[in-house]
Amino acid sequence: MAEVVVLGSAEEAGALVADAIWRLVDSDPAPVLGVATGSTPLVVYRALAATRGGRDLSGLRAFALDEYVGLSPDHPQSYRRTLLTEFAEPLGLDVGQVVVPDGDPARLPSAGAAFEQALAEAGGVDLQLLGIGTDGHIGFNEPGSSLASRTRVKTLTEQTRRDNARFFDSLENVPIHCVTQGLGTILDARHLVLLAFGAAKAAAVAAAVEGPVSASCPASIIQFHPHVTVVLDAEAAGELANLRYYQGVWERKPGWQGI
Ligand code: GLP
Repeated sequence: MAEVVVLGSAEEAGALVADAIWRLVDSDPAPVLGVATGSTPLVVYRALAATRGGRDLSGLRAFALDEYVGLSPDHPQSYRRTLLTEFAEPLGLDVGQVVVPDGDPARLPSAGAAFEQALAEAGGVDLQLLGIGTDGHIGFNEPGSSLASRTRVKTLTEQTRRDNARFFDSLENVPIHCVTQGLGTILDARHLVLLAFGAAKAAAVAAAVEGPVSASCPASIIQFHPHVTVVLDAEAAGELANLRYYQGVWERKPGWQGI
């Protein structure tokens, strides 16, 4: 089952996950990191920037999960711009080190295949960061997404558009379509690290970790993956029925050195 780690705060979670990323980076000259947007992973990006030190990150590549369709790449709410501002620039990475699905309407027919090809050429993702939507989506794979899907165009649900409207002037300005890695694409990453904080995520987390594997909760595909770590605060862990089995287990593993 997934390794479930419940910590006292989002900041502690960010520090733990940043530590796992540095262990990857320090052991691999060409690490491939899967990066996510939304507010949840920001604690990880801040912890990375604070602990970067003098590392040479020139061999690192980062691949984004998803992008809105129809926002210019420099639109402040495009995921490309967000990842450059929140993740790449604080670490001193070049723009070319971050690959984001292409949401330009003119290139949509080939955007999925082009992204999959770039990902394959990089050798696949070593560690994939994931948030989770309140409806159980990961990336922008909304309920009903094929469990075997690859990077493609999807339509956002009303709930996701409402959830994300806080980043835009109004609900009408939230794009309707996106290009997202598929669930099959995400499963190919060698280590999945799903983060969630706050009570609003508790039901989705419980469905993902303990519910049946189902397209109704796309995040439940993490149960098919051999190496998953779910990093939560107490509120996001609040609806896990089997929490007593998970909590503290990770601390007691002999030789446990972090996720
Ligand atoms: C968006 C992103 C997801 C993210 C989700 C949750 O829909 N496409 O990758 O997990 O939002 O966002 P937040 O972390 O802000 O709750």
